[in-house]
Formats: sequence, structure tokens, C-alpha cells
Amino acid sequence: MDTSVIELRKHLKKKLDVSRYEHTIGVSYMCQALAMRYGYDLHKAEMAGLFHDCAKKYDDTTMLNKCLEHGLPITEDEREEPSLLHAKLGAWMAENKYGIKDKDILNAIECHTTGKTGMSLLDKILYVADYIEPGRYKAGNLTEMRRLAFLDLDRACLSIMESILDYLHSAKCQIDQKTIQACEDMKRVVNSRSESE
Ligand SMILES: [Fe+2]
Ligand SMILES: [Fe+2]
Repeated sequence: MDTSVIELRKHLKKKLDVSRYEHTIGVSYMCQALAMRYGYDLHKAEMAGLFHDCAKKYDDTTMLNKCLEHGLPITEDEREEPSLLHAKLGAWMAENKYGIKDKDILNAIECHTTGKTGMSLLDKILYVADYIEPGRYKAGNLTEMRRLAFLDLDRACLSIMESILDYLHSAKCQIDQKTIQACEDMKRVVNSRSESE
């Protein structure tokens, strides 16, 4: 294995709490497994997984302040629900603290909580990996999503988005507009594929 990856893991282990670190490693491996399945660059997938939650070590107020300090734009939805900012701040940290210059990796980290319209293959790999990594156990549809992820990534993405939206609605949580737009866009992608099949 690339020694820099080992060093990076050691560093993240010190920075993140135990469960966040274990989740991070799970997502990183799952990103690589999906990259194998869908013919994507393994190293880029691994990096996206390793850094995706690097800003989660901060509380909401600190994240808000750090975003302001670094001039990162904050939407109304993010102001209402600052935990969403860990994706945006995480992408900033990956670039500016850890020297990741690859835009595909940075973009995937930035949209990993909400998704977005026009998601790339790496965006989808990280989004799905974050939901299905082996340490997750709460969602009722995990068995089905883990199976679907390796059969049809777009459909897995859509199903995960729909179940997250259902959950947010039922729990009366703040919903970021990007989550709704991402789901609508993925619906279009899946439907247009079905029509041409
Ligand atoms: Fe996250
Ligand atoms: Fe995560």
C-alpha cells in the first residue's frame, strides 16, 4: 500500500473520534469496492472516502465560524442546519490542509450529504458508500441498498435519496433544497434510462 495513505490514516485516527474514524475507513473501503465494480480510479475513490467527514470533528458553531473565516458561502438551509456544512468545510480542508487538488475528489466530498444535480460517478460512489458502509446498521433498507449498490448505482442513489427525504419529512427536519433537487435529477436520470432500455 502507498505509505502516504498509511500516514494519512494515522493522522485521521488522531483527529477523529473512534466511531467517526471507523466509519471513515468503512466508507473508504466501500468507495474502493464500488470503484472496482464501476471501473473508477481506486485511489481517487479511497481519498474521497478518507476525507469525506474530516470536518466532522468540529461542532456546529465552530463549523459555521470556520466557513465564515474562509469565505465559504453559507446558504439559508445551511444556516438552519449547520451540520450540513461539514461537507463544504471538509472539501475546503481536503484542499487547503491536506493538499488534495483533484477537483473530482473535492466535488464528491462537497456534495456527499445532499447530493446535487448532475452527479459524477465519484459523487455517486461516495454518496452510496457513505450510506451502506459495513458499520451502518440503523436504516431499515440497508440489506436491499447494499445489494442494489452493486447492481445499479443510479437506482441505489435514487432509493437512498428517497428514503433520506422520507426520513427528514417524517422527523420534521430541515431539508436542504439541494437534496430535493438531487433526488429529482436522479429520478430523471433513472427514468430516461428506463425509456431507452
Ligand atoms: Fe458526512
Ligand atoms: Fe460519512
